[in-house]
Amino acid sequence: MSDSPDAGPPLREVPRTSLVDFARSFARNLLWRDMRSSLEHLHRRYGVAVMNRAAPMTMVNLFGPDANRLVLLDRQGIFSARKPWMTIMGRIFPNGLLLRDGADHRHQRKIMHEAFKRPALRSYADRMNPMIEAGIADWEGERRAFPAYKELTLDIAASIFVGVDLGPETRRMKSAFEDMVAASMSILRLPIPGLEFRRGLDGRKFLVRTFGELLAKKRADEGLDMFSRLSGAQDEAGEKLADADVIDHMIFLMMAAHDTTTSTLTSMTYELARHPEWQERVREEALGLDKPQLGFDDVEGRTQLGWVLKETLRRYPPLPVIPRVAEADVEFAGMRIPAGAMVVVAPIHTHYMPEWFAAPERFDPERFAPGRAEDERHTHAWVPFGGGPHHCLGLRFAEMQVKAVMHQLLRRYRFRVEPGYRMPVQQAPISKPRDGLPVRFERIDRPALSGR
Ligand code: HEM
Repeated sequence: MSDSPDAGPPLREVPRTSLVDFARSFARNLLWRDMRSSLEHLHRRYGVAVMNRAAPMTMVNLFGPDANRLVLLDRQGIFSARKPWMTIMGRIFPNGLLLRDGADHRHQRKIMHEAFKRPALRSYADRMNPMIEAGIADWEGERRAFPAYKELTLDIAASIFVGVDLGPETRRMKSAFEDMVAASMSILRLPIPGLEFRRGLDGRKFLVRTFGELLAKKRADEGLDMFSRLSGAQDEAGEKLADADVIDHMIFLMMAAHDTTTSTLTSMTYELARHPEWQERVREEALGLDKPQLGFDDVEGRTQLGWVLKETLRRYPPLPVIPRVAEADVEFAGMRIPAGAMVVVAPIHTHYMPEWFAAPERFDPERFAPGRAEDERHTHAWVPFGGGPHHCLGLRFAEMQVKAVMHQLLRRYRFRVEPGYRMPVQQAPISKPRDGLPVRFERIDRPALSGR
């Protein structure tokens, strides 16, 4: 593929969807929130690129790992992440890292990196583990996995990110935060009292005020929470993040961390419940460690749990699609994508391409085992964390948290879903079960645990 739109034979225009296909994909996405089938239809019918012209926006869907590489790596510095994400969540989560481009983004990311290095992750793991133990202690019986994980990850975030312990103030913070997440997904975006969107704006005001009041203390102490670390982080010239930036990053980080991890834990629980042989394999691995809690240095050694995690993220990428805006004309597969177009790549589609993943409908964690390593056939075939300059900053944190929760859960409970149950997945805007995923947790006898 040429890097320059001017080189080689003249470029073709990207084919446009018919009105019927446009209406069909709009309905599927918006009403049924089922992106995958509409994307598969578009790919089959139009090839690796297709354009929807929906005023006032031109939207181009690109398919496959080469498209992911072009857009996510963005070697030419053409694709803005800020523009589409501002449209989607800019009023509720402005100035988050993902809502920045170019030099500003690079500068902020470099400073923020401090809060994601190994020593920081180690201290987060130490703080997280007792919270997980307490959080799952009474899970025996029937419960809906999604809200249960949501509660758990939000409690963990309040402690690890903000450094506050559970209490009335934390409850207000959690509900403000939930209002913001709901508002960022609402269709009716008017600041009218009583509407979801207004509650989100009010939630934001509350969090900005609360974090603003905490900031001076965070700057002064050398706390181990993410807020303190971000407040103290600096670049090589000794420059720190401005007050408003620390607050906006904190709010965005809580959002980026929370829904994605909840979604992953839920999907993983579903797959392990449906595949008891895999549940036993990863339980054996967990019991083999002979530690009730997973320390930071044990995370990498959870090999089979790692495959299960990767397979879960392949099948249910929490972010099914990733948007950008092309700031100049750009070529893809001999076609010209016009400047100004919203360009969308789709992990949820690539992850099911049989060219890259054998029998993609099968839950088969061993596809990630050495020897098969299907994710290594192309640098951008398995992309649940995106790639390039905006590659997920929290991916190690996410891996640690999911594995730490699963480690304890597997040692304590067997879990199952009703025979014949199929999780009704809502893929957009974030992958989650429509019914919350009802699961039965059965306590494992203590003697079996201590016998190890
Ligand atoms: C399984 C869990 C997670 C998944 C699947 C996930 C996925 C993603 C994806 C796909 C992107 C890129 C979006 C784009 O390019 O438009 C992203 C960016 C980001 N994620 Fe995650 N994420 C997860 C967990 C986390 C956690 C736990 C944190 C923080 C502790 C986090 C912080 C971020 C940040 C700050 C960015 C923006 C990076 C930048 O713009 O430079 N994520 N994530």
